[in-house]
Amino acid sequence: MVRIEAMKHHHLDEVIQLSVSEEQLKFVGTIDEILVNIDNVVHPHVIMSDDRVVGFFLIDTTYANNYEFAEPGSLGLRAYLIGQQYQGQGLGKLAVQELSGFLSLHYPQFQQIYLTVNCKNPGAKHCYLSGGFEDTESLYLGGAAGPQHIMKLAFAQ
Ligand SMILES: CC(C)(COP(=O)(O)OP(=O)(O)OC[C@H]1O[C@@H](n2cnc3c(N)ncnc32)[C@H](O)[C@@H]1OP(=O)(O)O)[C@@H](O)C(=O)NCCC(=O)NCCS
Repeated sequence: MVRIEAMKHHHLDEVIQLSVSEEQLKFVGTIDEILVNIDNVVHPHVIMSDDRVVGFFLIDTTYANNYEFAEPGSLGLRAYLIGQQYQGQGLGKLAVQELSGFLSLHYPQFQQIYLTVNCKNPGAKHCYLSGGFEDTESLYLGGAAGPQHIMKLAFAQ
């Protein structure tokens, strides 16, 4: 069973243990690099399985101000990762499937969420599609590591 929670201070010890493989670093960076993005508009979340922290992501409430493809009322999903020892067990997909329910409960003033995923990261794209995101068929070219697919999930009820 997989659960999403807003990250609290007591999660920190487990969160800083999360890592991805060397080849995946270009897609998300290290957890230390990710954590510096947290502020009052970019909110950290943990993915829990059996009461262990197995993954992490950021919800960016100002995404629509910074990415012109995202209309007002859009959130952004950033730095989505499952710790490398927990990957390949279906946890990433299950957590994406939990997202729309979680977001409609905790972010009711928003209607949809966007993300960009590197074209060289087909595994992650597949995970998002399996979890309910749609491929907008548009590319975002502003990323440091090359073109990215723009994906969207509508969650408003
Ligand atoms: C992308 C990521 C979150 C997927 O998490 P995961 O728990 O390993 O994924 P799952 O086991 O739930 O797999 C979900 C689906 O994606 C597929 N998939 C996952 N990784 C894959 C890979 N590397 N290659 C091909 N398919 C892959 C699975 O086969 C599964 O397919 P299915 O739905 O048809 O059964 C994880 O690999 C990760 O953290 N990667 C590093 C960080 C990253 O790239 N994040 C994305 C930033 S945009």
